Amino acid sequence: MSKKKILITGGVGFIGTNAAINFIKKGWNVSIVDNLSKIGTDNNLRHLKQNYLFKFHKIDIRNTNKIDQLFKRNSYDMVLHLAGQVAVTKSIKVPKEDFEINALGTINILEALRKHNNKAFFLNASTNKVYGKMDNAKLSIKKKKYQYKDFSKGIDESFPVDFHSPYGCSKGSAEQYVVDYARVYGLKTTSFRQSCIYGVHQYGIEDHGWISWFIIALILKKPFKIFGNGKQVRDILYIDDLIKAYFLAYKNRQKISGEVFNIGGGPSNAISILELFDRLSLYKKDFDKKKLNFSKWRVGDQKIFISNNNKAKKILNWEPEHSISQGIDKIFNWINKNVNLIK
Ligand SMILES: NC(=O)c1ccc[n+]([C@@H]2O[C@H](COP(=O)([O-])OP(=O)(O)OC[C@H]3O[C@@H](n4cnc5c(N)ncnc54)[C@H](O)[C@@H]3O)[C@@H](O)[C@H]2O)c1
Repeated sequence: MSKKKILITGGVGFIGTNAAINFIKKGWNVSIVDNLSKIGTDNNLRHLKQNYLFKFHKIDIRNTNKIDQLFKRNSYDMVLHLAGQVAVTKSIKVPKEDFEINALGTINILEALRKHNNKAFFLNASTNKVYGKMDNAKLSIKKKKYQYKDFSKGIDESFPVDFHSPYGCSKGSAEQYVVDYARVYGLKTTSFRQSCIYGVHQYGIEDHGWISWFIIALILKKPFKIFGNGKQVRDILYIDDLIKAYFLAYKNRQKISGEVFNIGGGPSNAISILELFDRLSLYKKDFDKKKLNFSKWRVGDQKIFISNNNKAKKILNWEPEHSISQGIDKIFNWINKNVNLIK
């Protein structure tokens, strides 16, 4: 039997590298598209080249012609679309560039699929940021964290979307096109509204990948800021659990066309920044929590987001397996081991 083929856009970024490794290990033929614009991608590409066999195309997804030519010459069973401008802060500085990468880049791929590869399963990495700031969700404030008053099981997909920040708008509009290409053109498309993902091969920076960034800053004794009061809560999801959801989406592709799924750590993996630092101080005994440096909130920052994963559980038979302590252990050890590379 011939090998199944997957194209991973953004395939040498954090999620992409982990996805590539796992699909290769499961016997898939993996091709990657990336423009290498993100910090850490050179390390990830080197790691992949040294250890695995795959095809690499250095292409910018904004380049309509090159994307079209790629799909004209190749056909895939699955396209995992991860390439993107990923930082809210950068989207505010360069909103047009953010739009061109996230919205236009996604349409370029959808169009190429429609013309040349319309049987492929297309899985789009969207974000919980499509729900916006969620000011209408009532909160209570505890000593170290915010809590929902009415959503003890988290936010499900019926919560109204409210794109906030250029990043929210570009990712949100891309997601709507992904859904619509299933309705109008019959493509097999699905979007995952991902929460905060963390894990190995993540080169966190202040703008993106906060768990990784805080650990790197602690280990390298770099100055860092907390935006807001540190009580903001996220449901964090360890990378291996996300990759498992990608496989399950492919397995169930016939029944999830045009669907969106919240994919996050859920209520049992929700943690505030202050609580994260409590945990990290167990690893870095010389770190003084009293010296945390606070700065003002960023535009569109949600005080709390916790995903209700019930739809994914019901349809994909998926739920997170890593606990917070298992996940933090893995990422801390990986950063510690690769500290010279990260420097
Ligand atoms: N990591 C998270 O917590 C998280 C949460 C929600 C959604 N997402 C989404 O998942 C996807 C992957 O995120 P990640 O954390 O791996 O980010 P990442 O920045 O590590 O990876 C993105 C990759 O896309 C590439 N890229 C950027 N612009 C490109 C372009 N114009 N053409 C081709 N390649 C380009 C980058 O070089 C990088 O390798 C993104 O779409 C992101 O919005 C991530």
